[in-house]
Amino acid sequence: MCGIVGYVGKRNSVDVLIKGLKNLEYRGYDSAGIAVCENDKIEIVKKEGKIKNLESSVSSLGSSHIGIGHTRWATHGPANTVNSHPHRVGCVTLVHNGIIENYVKLRKELKDLGYSFKSDTDTEVACALIDSIYKECKDKLLTMKKANEKIIGSFAFAILFDDDFDNIYVMRKDSPLIIAISDDGNFIASDVPAILEFTNKYILLEKDEYGVISGDKVIVYDNDFNILDKEILTYEESLDSAMKNGYEHFMIKEINDEPRTLTATYEQFFKSDINELLCNMPDFSKYKSIDIIGCGSAYHAGLVGKSFLERYADIPVNTYLASEYRYEKNFSDSSTLTILISQSGETADTLAALRKAKDRGIDTLGIINTVGSSIAREASKVFYIKVGCEVSVATTKAYSAQVLILELMALCIGVRKGIISLEAANDIISDIKELPSLIEEEINNKPSYDKIASLIYKNEDIFFLGRGIDYSLCMEGSLKLKEISYIHSESYAAGELKHGTISLIDKGTPVIGLVTDPDLAMKTISNIKETKARGSFVVLVTLESIFDEYKNDDFYDEVITIKDVDSFASPLLAITIFQLISYEVAKLRGEAIDKPRNLAKSVTVE
Ligand code: G6P
Repeated sequence: MCGIVGYVGKRNSVDVLIKGLKNLEYRGYDSAGIAVCENDKIEIVKKEGKIKNLESSVSSLGSSHIGIGHTRWATHGPANTVNSHPHRVGCVTLVHNGIIENYVKLRKELKDLGYSFKSDTDTEVACALIDSIYKECKDKLLTMKKANEKIIGSFAFAILFDDDFDNIYVMRKDSPLIIAISDDGNFIASDVPAILEFTNKYILLEKDEYGVISGDKVIVYDNDFNILDKEILTYEESLDSAMKNGYEHFMIKEINDEPRTLTATYEQFFKSDINELLCNMPDFSKYKSIDIIGCGSAYHAGLVGKSFLERYADIPVNTYLASEYRYEKNFSDSSTLTILISQSGETADTLAALRKAKDRGIDTLGIINTVGSSIAREASKVFYIKVGCEVSVATTKAYSAQVLILELMALCIGVRKGIISLEAANDIISDIKELPSLIEEEINNKPSYDKIASLIYKNEDIFFLGRGIDYSLCMEGSLKLKEISYIHSESYAAGELKHGTISLIDKGTPVIGLVTDPDLAMKTISNIKETKARGSFVVLVTLESIFDEYKNDDFYDEVITIKDVDSFASPLLAITIFQLISYEVAKLRGEAIDKPRNLAKSVTVE
């Protein structure tokens, strides 16, 4: 949430910062700004809205060897220019990612010292705090340490001091920060895409560490000011995986990535058969219960995982929204495995939930995309989903891969416990291996999604209906649709709609019914009929065999069928259809698909 970037070296920092910010825009796009040193003076340019607004305003700046930049997701104060970063107070200019929880108290203390504030932000308070400490102690490292001690909350800061335009100073607590290294200068950034165009070598700054970065030197200190010998990491993904590759939007590019990325996800565990999977997946069958925790789509992936783990591995599973888990009484103990699902590995609530579980001595497993992220490093064990960089704010390929990993866990435990035979497991594995080509076929069925999109995109309310796993998938389908199209959409357990919400069904209200479980088909279809009787416009998404059985029943207006596959493969085929319909609907409505309003991809505030 919020992206920060900085550069010092031989290049023109203005160009580097704008390029870096463009690649970080998924972290927030309410406003953007840069501060560069020009003729020994700080020049700040800030603009409301997307980076392109900023880009057209920086042409007046000359060349500069050092600068810092920021793209904002507003938390304190509206998304206007004055609240944008960088902030400048006294001799300090800085950009910030995170939230300062005690900023009201600090602001009062600083006002008493004579400081005044132009913005509503917590960041300007931090800037004044650092200025006041520095004026007193005149030592930059000590200033950062003292500020770290005074600030409660999460943060990563990049700081320029007026008396040192050769170095960028950085410090972090719970918000991510990398320092990247190249022959013609060094960088700092919230995330790797910002610097990939220039270098793939980077250092991870950890909590309570401080960095001093010049054009040819990077020094990292611990909290006692010992110089650390930090490992230089290499980011293996190509820049291509973070680029659009000719697609109109990242979202559709990332849906098109799914056949390849799902293959990469399962091939870490097996290429041939169940025995290989059993060898490569740790034995989780000793756990008596599982807690699954996540936010947004990651939580929805957990709901699908719950169904699989309970049905095929016979383990009771509780799913929690991370923001709730933190404050609820929890009954798990050492016989519980706690799974944290997070694409970014940085979501503040999920990270806090992980720490809560660890504090109670519970085994934790992260299902993560971003290598080296906080949750990946802090969880006792991590599975990477291997989908590469996901840029579109609405997640697609990461969600699908999260579901697949949970399914593989259920399959393994089920076999180990003798619930699934080796033969049945190998049939499931064959279906999973077929998934990439089936998803490709689905993607090629664009005319069907175009048609459905054209029939529903003008509506302002849409309902998704499903039972069991289908209900969980509908929750993700509904979220996908609403987050990028701004159509109000709700997902309902098929049998529950009639207990109130059916009053909202009117003539022409679209109802998208998902029916992939033959055992539940009759019941769900009855519920869909209840809406049809009240005039709904029904889009049925179902397996070919179920459709064959019910096609002569007059309860649907449009249908999309899914190949008859094993129950392990059908959820991933169903969700791709929902992702594609949502994409086409948002496109017809002309919305900013990759960067929907008010959202950010990585939510590092609680
Ligand atoms: C944000 C994103 C969602 C994502 C959620 C959790 O709200 O917009 O797409 O599902 O965060 O993110 P995580 O990185 O933890 O998976």
